[in-house]
Amino acid sequence: MEVLFANKPSENSLLVYPVFAKKKVADLALNKLVARLAAAKEFACKIGQTFFVLNGEGSSQGIILLGLGEAKELDVPNIMDAFGTAGKSAGNHHPAKLSIFIPEELHKYAQEIAEAIVLSNYQPAAPYKTGESQTELRENSIKSMEVTGLGKNEAAQNAFRKGIQIAEIVNEARMWVNTPPNIANTDFFRRKSKEIAREIHAKLKILRRRKLRKLNMWTFLGVNRGSPDEAHLITLDYCPKGVSRDEAPTVLVGKGVIFDAGGYNLKPRGSIEDMHLDKAGAVAVLSLMRLLPKLGIKKHIVCVTPFTENLIGQNAYKPSEILKTHLGKTVEITNTDAEGRLILGEAISYAVEKFKPAAIVDLATLTGACMIALGDRYAGLFGNDKALIENLRSAGDETDELLWQLPIHKDYADKMKGQFADLRNSETGSERFAGASKGAAFIREFVGKTKWAHIDIAGPAFTTDPKKYEQKGATGFGVRLLARFMENLK
Ligand code: BES
Ligand code: ZN
Ligand code: MN
Repeated sequence: MEVLFANKPSENSLLVYPVFAKKKVADLALNKLVARLAAAKEFACKIGQTFFVLNGEGSSQGIILLGLGEAKELDVPNIMDAFGTAGKSAGNHHPAKLSIFIPEELHKYAQEIAEAIVLSNYQPAAPYKTGESQTELRENSIKSMEVTGLGKNEAAQNAFRKGIQIAEIVNEARMWVNTPPNIANTDFFRRKSKEIAREIHAKLKILRRRKLRKLNMWTFLGVNRGSPDEAHLITLDYCPKGVSRDEAPTVLVGKGVIFDAGGYNLKPRGSIEDMHLDKAGAVAVLSLMRLLPKLGIKKHIVCVTPFTENLIGQNAYKPSEILKTHLGKTVEITNTDAEGRLILGEAISYAVEKFKPAAIVDLATLTGACMIALGDRYAGLFGNDKALIENLRSAGDETDELLWQLPIHKDYADKMKGQFADLRNSETGSERFAGASKGAAFIREFVGKTKWAHIDIAGPAFTTDPKKYEQKGATGFGVRLLARFMENLK
């Protein structure tokens, strides 16, 4: 989206004008209006409250008054909610141009304001509706923005531009995750990864069935056996100019299950409907890669994303199968629906061997248990390194993509030992107790001594109860978090 920084709103724009409680509005005419609205109990400047004034002063289309309460009560979540509300309301007025006034109190939130407005304008149904509904959705999205009030504050202008860039990538991530498996299949992600490699000048490597067999990734291949589409292990290796390829990279691993029917442990009605979203981890790390040059991250960063469906069929893997892994450990398949940990285990042991990473961070919609424990506001955080965990958690606090650390008790790890094989992919009987921890314990078996963190995003990756700047469905969770994490490492 285009953005222009101006001294005053242009004639044809729709203006978003923040107003604080207990504070005079600088513009005299508006000040009178706000006082009258307050007296009439129409608009109390409560945080996130909006009031639309048609044909307001100095603009042909109108003004959206945006209540912000008292400046001292502002924080990232409520700023984003408030501007998300304003962004959605603005979209509904089909503005030719949106003009946003950012007063001094809000300069430090320029990035979050831009993010909230762009995120609020995502239209999940736009690619699919036809006719009038499609036209309506198209018109509902803001095409260009103008910002006033920043004056010569270049840092704030840059932060605003950065917010737009990040949120546009997050919106595309949300679109990819929401895209159903008949369209967003392994082919789709092969094409996307080629585009990304070209876009960011990363080395691309795509391993398919023949190579995965050579690498002994039999559990990844096992998950894939019920699908007509080949498994893909996609690696992007980003090493910008001035950084040595010998620098031990940070490796990001993301679960890319195109559709998780559960396999022969078939998911029932009520659990299967959202399982096209089971690739949210992979999409988050691929999207993060796209941001690296835009954010000027000068570090060696690699992403590894295993993509496959988990279906049933003549060839599909079955409970009781014993499969060998790339690492050499054997796994008893006790539940074909615990597929995420299998494909992540293979991807991680491959990454450890090939890249000797400084650290690995994996993102996965891994367990319903994590969603039960934490809902859609927190992802579960696990790991073996204090500093890594702390850095991720604080990046989460800063971006409001919240992480909550959960434990891997030795006794939970013991429960992942197999009866015949080295490991089993699910405990039988009590698998629902501490399910997120046991999933993490299984993955840890493939990490070795590498610094590692695992983020179970089953809860926040999608939502039926969106925040003000979100829509139902995929949230793009993890992209803003990882972007901040990378920036903080600079
Ligand atoms: N993709 C699911 C986890 C999931 C559930 C994500 C709900 C988002 C929403 C995962 O592959 C799965 O099926 N996990 C099982 C693990 C169990 C069999 C040990 C689960 O959570 O039931
Ligand atoms: Zn899954
Ligand atoms: Mn599953």
